[in-house]
Amino acid sequence: MTASLSLFIVGCNESNTDSLKDAYAHDFLIGTAINYQQTLENSPGETRLFHTHFNALTPENCMKTEVLHPAWNTFDFSQADQLVSFAQKHDMVINGHTLIWHSQLPRFAQQLQSADSVRQFFESHIQTVASRYAGKLQSWDVVNEALEEDGSLRSSIFLDHLGAGYIAEAFQLTSRAAPDAELYYNDYNIEMPAKRAGCIALVKDIQSKGIRIDGVGIQGHWRLGQIPFREIEESILAFDSLGLKVMITELDIDVLPPDSSANPYAAGIPDSVLHQQAAEYEQLFRLFLRHRDKISRVSFWGLQDAKSWLNHFPFRGRTNYPLLFDRQLRPKPAFDRIMELKRE
Ligand code: XIL
Repeated sequence: MTASLSLFIVGCNESNTDSLKDAYAHDFLIGTAINYQQTLENSPGETRLFHTHFNALTPENCMKTEVLHPAWNTFDFSQADQLVSFAQKHDMVINGHTLIWHSQLPRFAQQLQSADSVRQFFESHIQTVASRYAGKLQSWDVVNEALEEDGSLRSSIFLDHLGAGYIAEAFQLTSRAAPDAELYYNDYNIEMPAKRAGCIALVKDIQSKGIRIDGVGIQGHWRLGQIPFREIEESILAFDSLGLKVMITELDIDVLPPDSSANPYAAGIPDSVLHQQAAEYEQLFRLFLRHRDKISRVSFWGLQDAKSWLNHFPFRGRTNYPLLFDRQLRPKPAFDRIMELKRE
């Protein structure tokens, strides 16, 4: 082999091992949420990170009902269409998020008073949106966050006006409008036993009606020092045994106190905290790799710390550090540990 050819090959290998999606190519898709501004590619540094490390996208907000369906019988697809062209350009699959959710509804929908009007809104929303993107999205979070912590169904305009059957109906309408899209139920804390049992009951109800559901998304909004590893593993096994794909769909590790508006790391985060976060990300990815035959995608809820929703939730204006890339777009210790796992 000539010296220049072997140098070229070494060069290729090096760049492959620096890419998250390439490192995990034989395990599961590596996704991230993306916001509308980012699809416009105004930050070359951010665009390079999306392109290098991720092969799946979830729109952070631009496919939510308040954006797509702002008034009765009125749809605005401009942001969502821009997302689709970004994904095509960068060769990424899209998970649509989300068709039926109690939150981020347009004002007119929150004010609907009759079962008839809610039904018309519900049906026309699913039919219009799912059919418009049929063939362009790999999957849909058909229903998001329909459960309470005790496993019962959450009150919403859908439950209150359409009854418990609305969930199976949403899956049926989506399967007709987008026959090639995979259909998922998505929620947070569904790894915890009571909520997990509610999720299993919901899935079995859909399946018993002969309606298609392909997977369950465990959101994965976890907190440093409190990640429920055992429950996560039990849930992966339980959802898999229902014949479903399992995904981690909105992964982040919050480092701030949950119950006060204190903002301890406004001026910077200690290395010790970053290293604890890295160790916990590593432990999570070891678990995901053990179940790589059951897990089809692991998606982070955001690209870099400055853009995380956790800077504003549950308290506005704090400085959080939940993701793999820092505010200067540099890989954090967590990124390095997840990459090192694949070099072992
Ligand atoms: C969040 C977005 O990240 C924020 O920008 C928005 O203000 C509120 O919603 N579970 C979900 C996501 O399913 O859609 C939420 O996204 C985070 C929690």
